Amino acid sequence: MTIQTIKTTPYNDQKPGTSGLRKSVKQFKKSDYLQNFVQAIFNTLEGIQGSTLILGGDGRYFNREAIQIILRMAAAAGFGRVIIGQGGILSTPAASNLIRQYQALGGIILSASHNAGGPEGDFGIKFNIANGGPAPESLTEAIFAASQHIHEYHIAPINPVPLDKLGAYEISGMQVEVIDSVSAYEELMESLFDFDKIAALLQSGSFKMRFDAMHAVTGPYAHRILEERLGAPEGTVIHGQPLADFGGGHPDPNQAHAKELMSLLYARNGDIDFGAASDGDGDRNMILGKQFFVTPSDSLAVLAANATAAPGYRNGIAGIARSMPTSQAPDRVAVKLGLPYFETPTGWKFFGNLLDAGKITLCGEESFGTSSNHVREKDGLWAVLFWLNLLAEKQDSVSNIVRKHWAEYGRNYYSRHDYEEIDLKAANELVNALLEQLPSLSGKTFGKLCVANADNFAYTDPVDGSVSKNQGIRILFTDGSRIIFRLSGTGTQGATLRVYLEKYEADPSKHDQDVQEALSELIAIAEQVAKIVAFTGREAADVIT
Ligand code: G1P
Ligand code: ZN
Repeated sequence: MTIQTIKTTPYNDQKPGTSGLRKSVKQFKKSDYLQNFVQAIFNTLEGIQGSTLILGGDGRYFNREAIQIILRMAAAAGFGRVIIGQGGILSTPAASNLIRQYQALGGIILSASHNAGGPEGDFGIKFNIANGGPAPESLTEAIFAASQHIHEYHIAPINPVPLDKLGAYEISGMQVEVIDSVSAYEELMESLFDFDKIAALLQSGSFKMRFDAMHAVTGPYAHRILEERLGAPEGTVIHGQPLADFGGGHPDPNQAHAKELMSLLYARNGDIDFGAASDGDGDRNMILGKQFFVTPSDSLAVLAANATAAPGYRNGIAGIARSMPTSQAPDRVAVKLGLPYFETPTGWKFFGNLLDAGKITLCGEESFGTSSNHVREKDGLWAVLFWLNLLAEKQDSVSNIVRKHWAEYGRNYYSRHDYEEIDLKAANELVNALLEQLPSLSGKTFGKLCVANADNFAYTDPVDGSVSKNQGIRILFTDGSRIIFRLSGTGTQGATLRVYLEKYEADPSKHDQDVQEALSELIAIAEQVAKIVAFTGREAADVIT
């Protein structure tokens, strides 16, 4: 079969962000926009000839078309085999697992995670390397550089592959296998958690849970694992049918976007004991108890402290890592257990080396991301199953488990305030003004709080020595409180300013305060220092988590 070479011209905006290349669907549909980026990936990779590629996405609008295009380009590039999830569906953690299991060269995951979908929404593409994890910065930089010099791409003129039927084909000398999207992932989960114990809990009749798949990729995974395999009553999974536009919703599992789940769990006299949700591509998770929200930072800390409750971690964990803006609650667990702990920049790619080197077993981010060394991505359903395992083991409620944790380790009051779609220029001016102030902030007092140090976070990877600079502005107080400012690297409109606030409270009699109230002093200092209202014109944050 003759391979076609098509002339093209570079787009100047194909720089991957925190997690792959995310743009509006409109942008992705521009002539050869996707093709350029895929060719840039293929031009950058070594060892393509005869190797295996994993391919799938979160099912959002444009997923299927993109898969057919990538298949044709993979055939032209010389891949020996492409493994696709049925219907073009693979959650991000399931794709990460398959890359490892098939010893693939890597995987292409089509997702814009929690960003809205549909023709007016966003699309995204990310490349994961052979360890199953996101491409490191060196590779994403190289892909971007290649995209700036693209003048042609290659494509095999083959018919579309039927994505909905399981099967194996040979096209243009390349093997294509459409596999069940869930099976391998389900087996992996069963190897880590006590399914018998969880099944007993879910079938007991005295415990009720709801899992909100938000009309995104975890629908089929949750139906199969929670309802079919573990026997949770039908109806446990809500919004379980994946839709190309996520039903018009915003598939982000947080208090603002998982409204229905929140109201179920917070209902007066409600009878749901455990609530959980996952995002567009299945890597995020939110954990709720009865009228109780578990911050993702606390969730990581609690799982780390109780890891041996799950069979997969019975022998203990090697260490813990958290992203810099994540609260320091997990550090306290590491200290108590005598484990190493690490603070990395925002983004899952920074955990990869630590996991590969065996320095850590668990890791997480405040942005509703938690996972372990079983894959190289964050994993929404894994966190849910871990919590179920814990609940089954302890025979206690979510809120009791967390409160007991606070009583032992102290409570890290924590919140993130997001100012979305603000003017890019204003955002940069705000950041520059903060950077200018940094040297004068050290030693400064604000009421009872004194600044110990203020800096622009830089990270040296302890495994390969690579340095990542400009990873967020930190104001660190002598009592352990922190204010962090960062601009998002995943948005597609204007800029998003994230303000992260944290305050530690050791005294259990003070663990029942309202979070925003507990943080009010820090919120006021953040405004005083960053002048958010003056720079952005915004009186209040758009999303508070
Ligand atoms: C956000 C989160 C970050 C996460 C990323 C991908 O990135 O803050 O923790 O890794 O999404 O899910 P941001 O938009 O802040 O760059
Ligand atoms: Zn995601």
